Amino acid sequence: MLFENAPRRIHINEVSVRDGFQSEARFVPTEDKIRLIDALSATGLARIEVTSFVSPKAIPNLRDAAEVMQGIARRPGVIYTALVPNEKGAERALACGADEINLVMSIGEKHNRANMRMTCDQSLEQFHRIMALVAGTPLRVNGTIATAFGCPFDGEQPLDRVLWAADEYLAMGMHSLTLADTTGMAHPRQVAEFCDAVRDAFPRVPVTVHFHNTRGMGLANVVAAVGAGIDSIDASLGGIGGCPYAPGATGNICTEDTVHMLEACGVATGVDLDVLLALAATLLDLLGHAVPGQVLQAGTRTTLRPFREAA
Ligand code: COA
Ligand code: ZN
Repeated sequence: MLFENAPRRIHINEVSVRDGFQSEARFVPTEDKIRLIDALSATGLARIEVTSFVSPKAIPNLRDAAEVMQGIARRPGVIYTALVPNEKGAERALACGADEINLVMSIGEKHNRANMRMTCDQSLEQFHRIMALVAGTPLRVNGTIATAFGCPFDGEQPLDRVLWAADEYLAMGMHSLTLADTTGMAHPRQVAEFCDAVRDAFPRVPVTVHFHNTRGMGLANVVAAVGAGIDSIDASLGGIGGCPYAPGATGNICTEDTVHMLEACGVATGVDLDVLLALAATLLDLLGHAVPGQVLQAGTRTTLRPFREAA
């Protein structure tokens, strides 16, 4: 039966304020970011990717990373993480007292060069220096394997390359891994295969999946990942998001749609769907445009409509 071996609780990680806000046309004011993160903190989410400590020239919308990280109210039990590409980013994150940094390298060489302006070897070299920098501090390090399911420039990536990157990350002492489908190329069969292989190779390592719904396969990929025993999923309020260095990139899987689906299937997330929906509804004003989330538009599956007898 579907989800027979699914984990008892799925941890939902919110990425809208990083993956979503990074490419918005309009700068989201710092106090609005803080207000949203504080509200998200109270919904039962496991982890919030608060911001990116990247070059403000590369991602101007997240130039207030330090103010946001230092301005939010930390709720015990929630992990506050931030994307970091290089040593300078790690120094900035350390100075702000982040709980975790999320080191990102695309295994597609061309996407890594477009996004991070580094070869994979250069990224790994930065990561080695970062591990030395954070050794002895309480900062946790997650390693994201971006373009794990395909690169928009180099095409599909072999499973062996995913396992190679995972091995490199873990050998440096990273605590956990994320398999990221940066541009929505993953399909459910591939997700099941890759998740099985990574869990078999590294059974004690926490693994998160990060999907974009670019080709409509986002929630199907969640089903495949959960079926393969993955218990940690990145998602974005309203379904906003996308890499500014990938042509045609679109939003992450939508947090409220993901929670709605999993809870409907009897898989617990611990997240308050009603509060999430209320927060998603505020995005229209905050961003100045509609968002892709579907439950926000349709209502939950148990929302009944007034019935009128046909005349
Ligand atoms: N935080 C803040 N500033 C940084 C920085 C960081 N982590 N890393 C570099 N910079 C600054 C440098 O100080 C330098 O500033 P200056 O021009 O005022 O002297 C400038 O950025 C360029 O530095 P350099 O080391 O030459 O970087 P680069 O131009 O080769 O870019 C990255 C490399 C990684 C910093 C940049 O490509 C980047 O930030 N990419 C992130 C992209 C991203 O977030 N994509 C979406 C998420 S996956
Ligand atoms: Zn993403």
